[in-house]
Amino acid sequence: MLKLGVNIDHVATIREARYRGRSIGEPDPIEAALQCETAGAHGITAHLREDRRHIQDRDLWRLREAVNTRLNFEMANSPEIIEIALKLKPHIVCLVPEKREEVTTEGGLDVAGHEQGIRSTCRRMNDAGIEVSLFIAPDPRQIEAAARTGSQFIELHTGSFADEFHDESRRAAELVRLVDGARQAHSLGLKVNAGHGLNYENLKTLFAVPHMIELNIGHSIVSRAVTIGITEAVREMLQLMRGYGK
Ligand code: PXP
Repeated sequence: MLKLGVNIDHVATIREARYRGRSIGEPDPIEAALQCETAGAHGITAHLREDRRHIQDRDLWRLREAVNTRLNFEMANSPEIIEIALKLKPHIVCLVPEKREEVTTEGGLDVAGHEQGIRSTCRRMNDAGIEVSLFIAPDPRQIEAAARTGSQFIELHTGSFADEFHDESRRAAELVRLVDGARQAHSLGLKVNAGHGLNYENLKTLFAVPHMIELNIGHSIVSRAVTIGITEAVREMLQLMRGYGK
C-alpha cells in the first residue's frame, strides 16, 4: 500500500503570515498533523528552514511529542540544522537543498557535487538511529551518487512532472524519467519515495512509476483543507492512492 506523508509546512505559512515573530497564533500545525493522522496519514513531514519562514523550532519539538505515526524532518545539510536533527531524533530526515549551489538544474539536491558531506551526514544520522532520504531529481548521475552515500531512501522530485502535467508530450517525457529513476534506485538497493507538486489531478498518472513506498504531499492537501477541512482532504487523497499497484 502506497503511504502518505502529509507536509504541514503550509499550515505554519498561514500562521506566520499574521503572527510572524510571535509565539502565538493560528492555525496550529500540530493540531493539523493530529487530524491528518486521524484521517489515516502514515506520516507527518515538516521542514525547518534555515530562515524559519514557516515551521518554527517550537513546532518541531511539539510535533516530536505529538506525532504517533512517523515524523519526517526535511532539512538542509547545514551544521545548525544537523545538530537540531540529532537532538530531535525524528524517524527519518530528508535532506533537501536550500542554497542555490546545492540545487541541480531540476531542483533536487546535488548529491554528486556534495557527496562527501552528504555521506558524512548520513552516517551521523544512521548512527543516531535516524533513517535518511535524499530529495533528488530523476537524474541517473544523482541516483548513482545517492546509492554511495549510505542513505536508505531517495525522494524523487516530481516537480518537473507536475509543472509539465498539462503538456502531453512533456508530461510523458517526465514520467519516463521518473519510471527509469525509480527502477535504477530500486536496483541499487535504495527505497523510493516521491513528492513535490503532487495533487488530486496528477496523482493517478504518477502510478506508472514503480517501487514507490511513500508520497509526501503538502500544498494541495492544505489548499483543499480550506474548503473541506484537513481530515476530508487527507481521506480523499488516501482514497485516490489506493489504486497504486493494482
Ligand atoms: N517533498 C519535499 C522534499 C518537499 O520539500 C516538499 C515541499 O516543497 C514536498 C515534498 C511537498 O511538496 P508540495 O507542497 O508541492 O506537495
